Amino acid sequence: DGVPASLIFRRGYSYTYNDLILHPGLINFPADAVDLSTRLSRNIHLAVPCVASPMDTVSEAAMAVAMAALGAVAVVHCNTEAHIQAAIVRAAKARRLPFVSSVPIFSLASAPSLADFAGHDYALVTERGDSLSKLLGVAVAADATNPSAPLSDYMRPAPRSASSSFDFEQASAFLADENLDYAPLLSEEGEAIDLITTKDVERIRSYPKLGKPSLGADGKFIVAASIGTREDDKRRLEQLVQAGANAIVIDSSQGNSTYQIDMIKYAKKMFPQVDVIGGNVVTIAQAQNLIASGVDGLRVGMGSGSICTTQEVCAVGRGQATAVYKVASYANDQNVPVIADGGISFSGHIVKALALGASTVMMGSFLAGSHETPGAYEYKDGHRVKKYRGMGSLEAMTKGSDARYLGDTLKLKVAQGVVGTVADKGSVLRLIPYTMQAVKQGFQDLGASSLQSAHDLLRADALRMEVRTGAAQVEGGIHGLMSYEKKPF
Ligand code: XMP
Repeated sequence: DGVPASLIFRRGYSYTYNDLILHPGLINFPADAVDLSTRLSRNIHLAVPCVASPMDTVSEAAMAVAMAALGAVAVVHCNTEAHIQAAIVRAAKARRLPFVSSVPIFSLASAPSLADFAGHDYALVTERGDSLSKLLGVAVAADATNPSAPLSDYMRPAPRSASSSFDFEQASAFLADENLDYAPLLSEEGEAIDLITTKDVERIRSYPKLGKPSLGADGKFIVAASIGTREDDKRRLEQLVQAGANAIVIDSSQGNSTYQIDMIKYAKKMFPQVDVIGGNVVTIAQAQNLIASGVDGLRVGMGSGSICTTQEVCAVGRGQATAVYKVASYANDQNVPVIADGGISFSGHIVKALALGASTVMMGSFLAGSHETPGAYEYKDGHRVKKYRGMGSLEAMTKGSDARYLGDTLKLKVAQGVVGTVADKGSVLRLIPYTMQAVKQGFQDLGASSLQSAHDLLRADALRMEVRTGAAQVEGGIHGLMSYEKKPF
């Protein structure tokens, strides 16, 4: 009954996730017993198979710490100067708490206005107004009696500081034991990292319980970062490695290029301790070239992203289900994990990507609009939204990301992506656990108790599936209702 993937993908069609439907197997374990632990790349293990895209409306420090705290990972984007990207990686690696409040830091001599508090109730006061000088106290915005009062009027002596290496339970116990409403977070070297409040603790406690975080050999959060393939990206690479990046993603829409091959070889030679992820690829031939050059992981997808226009503009790419299956069928044999990048709109798409051989899914739009993404919320037609843009959109390229699309700054710029908005999704600390619970239920339906057993079923042709007709796809979605509540949780 049904057909195995090896047959479906031999027919010369480009399929995407929605074209396919997987057949159920035998359930003999509870959904909670499903083990989704996986690898991002040869040497990086994750408890949760999710990766936040290297996009400037998705992955900076807040996303990196939240994803690592969840057992997943984010790739910090490179659409900014190298030293700023390295500072973002360093900021994320300096924390063990799943939040970044980024309270302002002032010097005692400053007289900040309320606007300078940027919505924060507190600010740290240090000798020189930077994170590296001595902590003097905490400015409490509510204590400022007049807007131009000098800081010394409303600075309180700093209470005992919590260590930035505290995890959530330790930080929460510290505030309770010391009977504090807030505490500065200091690194072992005395650097002022942030400030935690009891409000933060309550908020984080309202989310599902955190599982096993993604920690590197250094005992710190695992953080990945992207680079391009230009000559000056070698310096960027060095700065990112110095900042502690655990994996480097070479960001290109068509990864099978001599530029990328040279960069992979250079990175592996200079920094063998760091995993290098290549891509993007959609064919076995592309994958072969990058694997032969020494990559530790492959990013798969071309033009399948929600904001992508590559397939329309350049006529090149592949349906995402076909791309993932084909590349993974080769790469998994070479012990190179595959990241299914783009086109994830539902938990069911994640189940399909993983069942077709991917080890992780990379998501942009699915995570865009969450609290942890850069950018401010705005209101559009009564909805709270945030900007989400393709890195090949004209707007992003003018900020520097044209290298990904091998554009030449002196020539005409052609966009391969668009700018849009997405709805507020709340915190990824809630979104990802709910989504993973749904994925576990999908795996249970398949009769696969782990990601590895799903891959074994695939390889043995025991995972059966079918191509859905257009009518079957309509039937498989919500239909026939006048209205419905869109928010699943
Ligand atoms: P989703 O569907 O998760 O896709 O929003 C995110 C992925 O899309 C890729 N990406 C682009 N592709 N033009 C493209 O053709 C673009 O402007 C663009 N920006 C991002 C990228 O692989 C990302 O992870």
